[in-house]
Amino acid sequence: MNILEMASQTAQITLPERYSTMSREEMEARVREIKERFGDQLFIPGHHYQKDEVVIFSDATGDSLQLAQVAAQNTKAKYIVFCGVHFMAETADILTTDEQVVVLPDMRAGCSMADMADIEQTERAWPKLHELFGDTILPLTYVNSTAAIKAFCGRNGGATVTSSNAKAMVAWAFTQKERIFFLPDQHLGRNTAYDLGVPLEHMAVWDPQTDTLEYEGNIEDIKVILWKGHCSVHQNFTVKNIENVRKNHPDMKIIVHPECCREVVAASDDAGSTKYIIEAIENAPAGSKWAIGTEMNLVKRIIDQHPDKHIVSLNPYMCPCLTMNRIDLPHLLWALESLENGEEVNVIQVNQKIAEEALLALDRMLALA
Ligand code: 13P
Ligand code: SF4
Repeated sequence: MNILEMASQTAQITLPERYSTMSREEMEARVREIKERFGDQLFIPGHHYQKDEVVIFSDATGDSLQLAQVAAQNTKAKYIVFCGVHFMAETADILTTDEQVVVLPDMRAGCSMADMADIEQTERAWPKLHELFGDTILPLTYVNSTAAIKAFCGRNGGATVTSSNAKAMVAWAFTQKERIFFLPDQHLGRNTAYDLGVPLEHMAVWDPQTDTLEYEGNIEDIKVILWKGHCSVHQNFTVKNIENVRKNHPDMKIIVHPECCREVVAASDDAGSTKYIIEAIENAPAGSKWAIGTEMNLVKRIIDQHPDKHIVSLNPYMCPCLTMNRIDLPHLLWALESLENGEEVNVIQVNQKIAEEALLALDRMLALA
């Protein structure tokens, strides 16, 4: 679902007034009590980019891959209240049973990157790419995409990837076909293919606004076709930020998420998924110095958890992912109280045909993960 579709739904799904006047203590106490009453009938996954005020109530925290795995494994909980963004809740709905209900506490928690690829654009691109390359292309989509895009990949022999397993999935894709079509994050696609040895000159960019392939060179050389999408959070880390850190803290190590652009990843000391970044800092010696290039809620939490290390955000003016931040304590409480009162609000239910095809793509990933 894109932002406009979500906005059209917000009239029925806005937070009732009473939650804006409740104290934080009262809201926390109520969430605790409801969790206790539901017991294992309720499961709350929380992405690492979520605010602390909801992460403290998460039954599992993780990156996109870990949360997809825990959702797939949980067959007990009737209600899955997903603290993350829309595509993650869709994935949870696809991976759980028909009896389980997935709720996203605030429907406005979308992902600007996922919105950069819609299925109509993708269906337009596919025959054009076939005209150019014949049947030599396998589609892969970052999980940060709509269920419809995952379904497109599923029915065309492709798979989903996360930033934790992108390398393994791209390597697998090349065992299936000569070329890959990587949606919707050009940066994750480019960084991953580059790490696997594909030269930048062998990568082209598909522009879904103009339906054209951006490439200079011999078309036969193209191995990777990158969808022209990006993360509006991670694009805010720049080479200038890196130069500033190198100048002011020459002994600081720089680690970034692969949603950052190629130039930033290349100029950093290390790059990896949120899980990779968390583990790198955990395993680093006391006294070590780090500049981290990823979402700010996570960077703040890492800073709090490691007082023995000197950690800063690579971009000092960085802010959290605004759509992740839509999920807050009032929305979580509202979702839970509604479930207790027998009214299911903000239920995420993927169309059955789309879910079946998307599951093919997700299962191909989970089998290799
Ligand atoms: P991972 O959780 O796969 O690291 O991705 C980060 C992200 O942007 C989630 O929206
Ligand atoms: Fe989407 Fe970027 Fe926010 Fe992740 S951090 S949810 S990719 S906008």
